Amino acid sequence: IYAVIKGDNADEEQIRRAGDILKAGGLVAFPTETVYGLGGDALNPDSSKKIYAAKGRPSDNPLIVHICRWEDIYRIAEPVTEEAERLAEAFWPGPLTMILQKKDTVPKETTGGLDTVAIRFPSHPVARRLIEAAGGFVAAPSANASGRPSPTMAEYVAEDMNGRIDMILDGGAVGIGLESTIVDVSGPEPIILRPGYVTQEMLEKVLGEVELDQTILDGTTALRPKAPGMKYRHYAPKGELSIVEGSAEAVVEHINSLCACAAAEGKKTGVIATDETFARYTADSVKSVGSREDEEAIAHSLYRILREFDDEEVEVMYTESFSSYGMGQAIMNRLLKAAGHRIITV
Ligand code: TXA
Ligand code: MG
Repeated sequence: IYAVIKGDNADEEQIRRAGDILKAGGLVAFPTETVYGLGGDALNPDSSKKIYAAKGRPSDNPLIVHICRWEDIYRIAEPVTEEAERLAEAFWPGPLTMILQKKDTVPKETTGGLDTVAIRFPSHPVARRLIEAAGGFVAAPSANASGRPSPTMAEYVAEDMNGRIDMILDGGAVGIGLESTIVDVSGPEPIILRPGYVTQEMLEKVLGEVELDQTILDGTTALRPKAPGMKYRHYAPKGELSIVEGSAEAVVEHINSLCACAAAEGKKTGVIATDETFARYTADSVKSVGSREDEEAIAHSLYRILREFDDEEVEVMYTESFSSYGMGQAIMNRLLKAAGHRIITV
């Protein structure tokens, strides 16, 4: 039930077995370049129902359909807009998901009742081989239990999904660590519904101006996010997380005094630090996400660190703030959601 793959070399036999499970309506978790996915046959409504049940996910939150050949987009979406074709050419296979009007081939169970479908062609070789073995269309949300951080290692999938799914393909730690960028290209204006590794700047190089869903970085707006899943508090840490922003010096001092107060109340404290500031914090548990200069490293370790704080039962957590330019947009979006948009400015 738990298949270990060394590097990218899943043997043919394991992939074939996993593909057969999917074709028969079962569920298989697998590595992608972003996070682990929980796969089911996207064209089988019962498989999609099983995915919602395994994750404990509300069934109005649509799934992403993963494909392994460019041309398969025409089998599930219509019209395929010119913007979609240009983005596919620029970024597929890779960490980009596109929203288009769906064809009848895709059941409403997979799209959470919507007339649109989210489509992604991942670059991870195991994911591609699995999708092919499964017949070409694999619905896959992140393989975490609803409300937990997306899994970046097979061990985390096992923690959340043990006994609820048929197989886990273990491909080691993922490369990126945050979920794919989602762009809605079904309408006249392309719009980013979820920021990710493919940044607004990268998309604009291909399409010209691309809007960002206003709810992404702004918690005060009364608007509903355009991606149904983004309205949920996605990951709710067991402890209370706040973001502290300001000059490096002031942030360290303020977080240390907030932690001292919490400690005086008998609470266990945690800090998400950077390599630059790590040594200066006094909390019970201090973890570095990497160098402030290295956004890829931060993206890579963020979900692991949030899971570790949960495991350590930290009750009050503080994190430094990051620039929301480039990939920082995705990092801050995930942090803001985990913090329920609690920001302290010093
Ligand atoms: O990187 C990823 O995208 C990972 C890997 C496994 O591929 N998958 C992933 O799926 O993050 P999930 O289900 O955790 O997130 C999908 C997001 C949700 O916020 C959902 O609401 C949104 O995509 N979405 C899916 N279909 C949509 C649609 N037709 N219109 C708007 N948003 C949609
Ligand atoms: Mg998810």
